[in-house]
Amino acid sequence: MKADVRRLSTEQTEAFDVEYIDKALFLVLTTHIDKQFDTSQPFHLLDVGGGNGMYADKVLEHYPNAYVTVVEPEQALLDKNRAHPNKHLQASTFQESLLQTRHDMVQFNWVLHHFVADSFSQTLNAQQNALDTAYQNLNSGGLLIVFENLYEGEWLHDLPGQLIYRCTASKLLTPLSRRMGANTAGVGVSFHSQAKWQQMIEKAGFSTTVYVPCYHFGNLGKLVKFGLHLKEQKVGMFIAIKER
Ligand SMILES: C[S@@+](CC[C@H](N)C(=O)[O-])C[C@H]1O[C@@H](n2cnc3c(N)ncnc32)[C@H](O)[C@@H]1O
Repeated sequence: MKADVRRLSTEQTEAFDVEYIDKALFLVLTTHIDKQFDTSQPFHLLDVGGGNGMYADKVLEHYPNAYVTVVEPEQALLDKNRAHPNKHLQASTFQESLLQTRHDMVQFNWVLHHFVADSFSQTLNAQQNALDTAYQNLNSGGLLIVFENLYEGEWLHDLPGQLIYRCTASKLLTPLSRRMGANTAGVGVSFHSQAKWQQMIEKAGFSTTVYVPCYHFGNLGKLVKFGLHLKEQKVGMFIAIKER
């Protein structure tokens, strides 16, 4: 995999020392996983950008047969991980990680939008590349799980994500995007619409994708929403299967 993505600073990743999947969402997730995969057998999960490991801990507690590898480039977050005999930590970006074994599940919890490069088209390539790599790394019958903040355009469904990328990735606009609350200012962030992610997941080779709507969010003012061509912000989960 090419190592062509931008890195956030340690200060910028401090805000990620949280866990977004609460009890109710974890129940929704595990219900879907159990429908698609035989979790009574030992299985290996790769948690990409797994940060402080709180999600991995939940999985290990819920599924005693699980083995989880957390791939995380930020050492300060990795250091927060609780040790567990079935948990393995890998200090690197996903792009630089040397995946020695195949996995039964590859999960990206709010991380794909951080795969940003120097231009929007290179960013799309980096995100597609990550999904392609996940497909290649999975055992047949394995699952891809993606949680994302979805930005839906009024008419052009993927335009808000592109505009947000252009504002946050620009060095020139760093002071402005920082003032507007973007902690990724100067590095960039690349959100997409539900349809765009779905298209990219299918392009990677996955044939069955289940989309699970989770919740709406956002408190942007009318003017900002207008400027970003933004209709709504929501969180969604995609579960895709690599067919046998
Ligand atoms: C928004 S946080 C999500 C953390 C965690 N997955 C969760 O749901 O709580 C994004 C995480 O992705 C990590 N990250 C950013 N770029 C990455 C890359 N290229 N490869 C792997 N992880 C990355 C960040 O360091 C951070 O821990």
